[in-house]
Amino acid sequence: TLPQKVKIVEVGPRDGLQNEKESVSAAVKIELVDRLSRAGFANIEAASFVSPKWVPQMATSAEVMAGITRRAGTMYSALTPNMQGFDAALAAKADEVVIFGSASEAFSQKNINCSIAESIARFESVAKAAKDHGLRLRGSISCAFGCPYQGEVSLDAVADVVGRMRELGCDEIDIADTIGVATARKTQAVMLRAAREFHLDRISGHFHDTYGQALANIYASLEVGVSIFHSSVSGLGGCPYAKGATGNVATEDVLYLMQGLGIETGIDLDMVVDAGQFIAQHLGRKGSSRAGNALAAK
Ligand code: HMG
Ligand code: MG
Repeated sequence: TLPQKVKIVEVGPRDGLQNEKESVSAAVKIELVDRLSRAGFANIEAASFVSPKWVPQMATSAEVMAGITRRAGTMYSALTPNMQGFDAALAAKADEVVIFGSASEAFSQKNINCSIAESIARFESVAKAAKDHGLRLRGSISCAFGCPYQGEVSLDAVADVVGRMRELGCDEIDIADTIGVATARKTQAVMLRAAREFHLDRISGHFHDTYGQALANIYASLEVGVSIFHSSVSGLGGCPYAKGATGNVATEDVLYLMQGLGIETGIDLDMVVDAGQFIAQHLGRKGSSRAGNALAAK
């Protein structure tokens, strides 16, 4: 039986917009986050405190966090690769900080300029600071299903990083398909392996839709009991250090699936469709959510 209820983490304002060529103003990002808050998300990834030289699109994160209207019941998360990022996230009153590592050595070097082991050492101080300040801590694991630089990534490599993230005290761990290469059975194998290292009800699926498999992978994850999924309004996004990777699975498509399955999300699909139209207009293109476009055309 599938879970009766899932948590959808909206990552469009971060994962989505970090990869846009045209930089989006803080005012537009604030309006987007506010629309998403009103739609009822329990968790929105709104900011990323990384080097502006590496990801210029996230340079306005402090301004965005200061400008949004926080909804009671919504947790606002920020990416924090090191203590400099943590201090900025703390000052910006993030509710949750996200340390992000990789199951692939090659990707770790390209994305955060250090080895997996070095990244874990770096995350120790961030994790401790998060606990000291009472912030929630999430760990994200890139390339859990394959890497754009080294290809195959083993189940053991994923399990190893899951174990390290657990030891760091993560409250939730994201299993990420950075380049969207996973298929359904592989997804189940990775999720079940991760669940040997960490609580299944605190493991999330973060699927990019490069190969059109994300919804199938979400359904496959539901079948093995995963109940937290990341998605991006209007299918925005990609990753600047994973060339050719497209956006996350579109939130509208995921909500449409959950609605059809009778699985509770607590989110108003129509309001998300409107938010998707809003940001697509600002980017000057048609949104890439199939369900979103179909519902908007009604
Ligand atoms: P580094 O160059 O090794 O770091 O970068 P450093 O400590 O040597 O610092 C170099 C410079 O960066 C210094 O500035 C620091 O002040 C600055 P300078 O003296 O040259 O002027 N710096 C910072 N500035 C602002 N905020 C900070 C910060 N840290 C250092 N936190 C670092 C290491 C991790 C910082 C760098 O590699 C970086 O910023 N990488 C960002 C990568 C990134 O954001 N990728 C996208 C997000 S991850 C993702 O999308 C995957 C995910 O969606 C899951 C999936 O789909 O796979 C989560
Ligand atoms: Mg991602």
